[in-house]
Amino acid sequence: MARIVGSITTSHVPAIGRAIARNLQSDPYWKPFFDGFPPVHRWLAEARPDVAVVFYNDHGLNFFLDKMPTFAVGAAAEYRNADEGWGIPEMAPFRGEPKLSWHLVEQLVARDFDLTTCQEMLVDHALTVPMALLWPGCERTGAWPLRIVPIAINTVQFPLPSAKRCWALGEAVGEAIRSWPGSERVLVLGTGGLSHQLDGERAGFINKDFDLQFMESLVHDPRWATQFSIHELVEKTGTQGVELVMWLAARAALGEGPVKRVHQNYHIPISNTAAGMMLLEPAA
Ligand code: DHB
Ligand code: FE
Repeated sequence: MARIVGSITTSHVPAIGRAIARNLQSDPYWKPFFDGFPPVHRWLAEARPDVAVVFYNDHGLNFFLDKMPTFAVGAAAEYRNADEGWGIPEMAPFRGEPKLSWHLVEQLVARDFDLTTCQEMLVDHALTVPMALLWPGCERTGAWPLRIVPIAINTVQFPLPSAKRCWALGEAVGEAIRSWPGSERVLVLGTGGLSHQLDGERAGFINKDFDLQFMESLVHDPRWATQFSIHELVEKTGTQGVELVMWLAARAALGEGPVKRVHQNYHIPISNTAAGMMLLEPAA
C-alpha cells in the first residue's frame, strides 16, 4: 500500500517566486525566510517521495468567480502554470498521477464529498511557488523528482468550507492514500497562510500569537483550529489568513496518531504575509 512519508505546509506568496527568479535568497530581506528550507531539502533527499498530494487554493487562474468549486481534485496527466500577472516567470509543467487522482476521487465521493474533478487544470502560485521552494531549480529545468495530485479548496469566494470540513477532507484523503494498492511514497503538501489580509481596512493585518499557537496545535492538539468558524478565522487571521485550512487538511491526512516535528520556520513579513513552514512526519 502507498505510504504517507510526511507533510510539509508553507505560505505561498507570489513575491517569493520573484525572489527565486532573481536569485535573492541571500538578500537580507529574504534570507530569514529561505533559511527555513535547507533542513527540508535534506529531509526530502532522504524521504524521496514519488508523489505529492497538494492542498492549495486557486486565486483566479483556473477557477474564476463565475465558477468556484468548494473542493476540486486534479486528474490530469500534466499541470501547467500560466501568467497570473504577478511578474513571476511561468514555471515548468508538472507530471500528474491520474490513477491515484481517480482513486482519491472515487474514495472521496464514496464518503459523501461533492467534488469537482478536473481533467485539465492550470496551477497557480499557490502550487508552483512551494514546489520551487522545495525543489530549487526545477522551476526552470522541469526535472521535478515527483508527480503531483492537486486538490484545490476554495478560500477565495464566500461561502467557504469550514475548518472542520477541511479537516474531514484531509482525513479522508489520507485514508484514501493509505488504501492505494501501490508502493508509492506520498508527501502531503498544504500551502497558504499564515495570517494575512491583502484588502480592506485591515490590509497588512498579521496575528503572530495566533499563528504560533496554530502551528503548535498541529503537533499536540491537531483539531484545535476546527473549533473556529470561517468568520472567526477571518477575524483572527485576516481575509487571506483563512488559507491556513490547507495546513489543517494536510495535517489531517497524517491521521490521528502522534507526529514528529522535523522542522519549522516562522518569519514576518514576507510581502504582506506571516510566512510559516512546517515539516511533520508520522511518529510511528
Ligand atoms: C500575498 C499572499 C498570498 O497568499 C497570495 O496568494 C498573494 C499575495 C502577499 O502577501 O503578497
Ligand atoms: Fe494566497
